[in-house]
Amino acid sequence: MTDWQELEGKYYMQTIVRVPVTLVKGKGVRVWDDKGKEYLDFVNGLAVNCLGHCHPVVINAVAEQARTLIQTSNWYYTVPQLQLAQLLVENSCLDRVFVCNSGLEANEGAVKLARRYGHLKLNGAYEVITTLDSFHGRSLALTAASGNPKMHAPYVPLPEGFINVKNNDIEAIKAATTEKTCAVMLEPVQAEGGVNIADDDYLQKVRAWCDQKEILLILDEVQTGIGRLGTLFGYQLYGVEPDILTLAKGLGGGIPIGAVLARENAAVFVPGDHNATFGGNPVTSAAAYATLKYVIDNDIPGNVRKVGHYLMEGLKRLKAKYPFIKDVRGRGFLVAIEFNSDIAQDVLMACLEKGLLVNKLKPDAIRLIPPLTIGNKEVDQALGILDNVFSGIVN
Ligand SMILES: Cc1ncc(COP(=O)(O)O)c(C=O)c1O
Repeated sequence: MTDWQELEGKYYMQTIVRVPVTLVKGKGVRVWDDKGKEYLDFVNGLAVNCLGHCHPVVINAVAEQARTLIQTSNWYYTVPQLQLAQLLVENSCLDRVFVCNSGLEANEGAVKLARRYGHLKLNGAYEVITTLDSFHGRSLALTAASGNPKMHAPYVPLPEGFINVKNNDIEAIKAATTEKTCAVMLEPVQAEGGVNIADDDYLQKVRAWCDQKEILLILDEVQTGIGRLGTLFGYQLYGVEPDILTLAKGLGGGIPIGAVLARENAAVFVPGDHNATFGGNPVTSAAAYATLKYVIDNDIPGNVRKVGHYLMEGLKRLKAKYPFIKDVRGRGFLVAIEFNSDIAQDVLMACLEKGLLVNKLKPDAIRLIPPLTIGNKEVDQALGILDNVFSGIVN
């Protein structure tokens, strides 16, 4: 039997320290490794497979489209891309869509759009204010945009024009705003940076400030979009409408796709400004259209609200039982468990052994990002394994 992990060590670029398991099959909330062991998957392609692994809606959309037309070029009109754009616009506060291939591409498009807007309407303003502990992607520009100095250091010099300010602090945004500012870019809930939840009125204050200064508000909903927080888009949870919105992860139900959405007045690209060879490809767009339609038609965000509440109640009980749990926090199915010491790797490995996949968010925190379709039964199974793992922790 091939040792895939040894093969990775030999042939693959060492960009990540992987969890020592080779996954070969998935269905719903379950995956199987190459030895046939079954796991409950609360990592879920890193908050991607919103309908679970290999959902028939996604399979059928991909298979049907792959039999019909796989790739053309954006020089031509194609049906799935335009159906997807219409569905997104009809269900959001935005007016126009550009479809791309990933979260970073969506954010790169959003920043380009904001700079274009700055050039056209704000006397050449080009700076984008972002927050510390944010994560927006790994291109050079988005490395600069992401508020994590450790990410910056190996790649300096980075493109200029990004100002990282303290999170959840409207005064910090105000202080950083100058005549060079064209936009503020935020995640409704900082996901990779720690599942950091800002004050309820923070986004509203930022919106009001952007309106006052006539600059754009970009919401990076690559992780929070498509139901993860219990509303179709995270901005709906906070009663705030962005000028530009970015999506990826959940959008394709597991198929790689991203999108930039903008209000009409911010959609300032003209022909020649922006494009992507694979952006809005018929197969990925068909998968996203089918996924999004299923999410909307079946009120999947409603399930996230209901079952997410159940999950949080269970986690609070575990917190009350185990003093080494410092905090449980989250919205919907974007949840973190923080410990009072760096035991996240030990917890992850013990969960793996007992058949539950969790994500190590930080040395002292794990993240649960299950499919949006699970019910209380799967939550009970995960809580049972976590309880079992925690009971074995000497702290
Ligand atoms: C909020 C946010 N923005 C952007 C990205 C980058 O997305 P991608 O990995 O698809 O480039 C991520 C990925 O985790 C993310 O969580």
